[in-house]
Amino acid sequence: MTFPDTFLWGTATAAHQVEGGNTASDFWAMEHAPGSLFAEPSGDACDHYRLFRDDLALLAGLGFTAYRFSIEWARVEPEDGVFSRAAIAHYRDVLAACHEFGLTPMVTLHHFTSPRWLMRYGGWEYAGTPERFAAYCRAVLAELGDSVPYVCTINEANIGPLLRGMLGISGDGAPVGIDLGGQDWRRPAAEALATTPDKLNPFLFTFSDAGIAVVKQAHMAAREAIRAVSPASQVGITLSLQDFQPLPGATEIADRMWAEQFEEYLPALQGDDFLGVQNYCRARIGTEGILPQPADAELTQAGYEYYPQALEPVLRRAATAGLPLFVTENGIATADDDRRVAFIETALDGVGRALADGVDIRGYFYWSALDNFEWMLGYTPRFGLIAVDRETQRRTPKNSAYHLGAVAGRHRRIRS
Ligand code: GAL
Repeated sequence: MTFPDTFLWGTATAAHQVEGGNTASDFWAMEHAPGSLFAEPSGDACDHYRLFRDDLALLAGLGFTAYRFSIEWARVEPEDGVFSRAAIAHYRDVLAACHEFGLTPMVTLHHFTSPRWLMRYGGWEYAGTPERFAAYCRAVLAELGDSVPYVCTINEANIGPLLRGMLGISGDGAPVGIDLGGQDWRRPAAEALATTPDKLNPFLFTFSDAGIAVVKQAHMAAREAIRAVSPASQVGITLSLQDFQPLPGATEIADRMWAEQFEEYLPALQGDDFLGVQNYCRARIGTEGILPQPADAELTQAGYEYYPQALEPVLRRAATAGLPLFVTENGIATADDDRRVAFIETALDGVGRALADGVDIRGYFYWSALDNFEWMLGYTPRFGLIAVDRETQRRTPKNSAYHLGAVAGRHRRIRS
């Protein structure tokens, strides 16, 4: 399999999932409120805020050439309009370490978590959020832009229609099928965030049409702000895309879901430099929507079907955006690391075939570098190439880390 010499071989993380102590974020409050939807709180996570140098040195030593991580808005702007020079200096140190260790950094500016104060205004349904988000992006890139070659504004910007499709939620945000464990969590979480339940619209739980529009506007406003202060940084967004496989009679509904989750984002992406594609599995579509997994499906720890073949068709379809693509996330939660190696091999075979057919794919970031905080599921699912003992914070690379690192390392040697 031939990959271009410039192809980025990376792993991905997100601030809230690895840094620890993200106390100024909406998620921290939601994790600790009575009736929380979270299996456990994020706590110290992987203490990556303190241990980032060791982690980056480890990843570079394994052979990787790139690292995707997120900057935490809640740390940079812990109160409305109050920017933390200390937090920005921290991320300057992270970027410097990436460059020192030969890891091309790809920075995400929003990965699910937001500052607590945003929930006082209405979170991701508030019409002023795009402007607030752009102000934060401007502040970060004005300081750090010189060391940021690639920047993703918003992670999985299409989460609204994606979750609607998965949960069966109507346009006004009301659950019509399975809901997120009832609404009992809302009132105590709103109290913890000094807001009212109607204003508590965290990014991950906002499905309304209004919320979807806010996210698109936030991306466009951020892109403009970034371009103004850091014209050399390449700007993109990431979308979570599934391989939709319609059963007979379900093509129309599958096409409609693809339109909602992909095509309707394209106008907002006009002027972007790249598109980040995130894929974990396929979705079989029947006439009523997404079907349950086949009875004999191999399920991963995150509840997805083991289906690494999904990445290739998703990349081919995403190429219709007309933008260079990065696989910004692809991975598997499993305790069986042999399955992880097999998953990566199958996924990369697909990337290679798409590349050979001329699809412009510029890099592959495995999710995730470390076993980490998997949102509502807590620490149980193990996506990492590197195991983390959360008592001691000791890191132990798994076989899959050496495996993918060796693939990456061959290219690292060619490049240097
Ligand atoms: C993505 C998300 C990541 C990670 C991953 C695994 O949707 O961007 O933060 O949790 O899923 O489930």
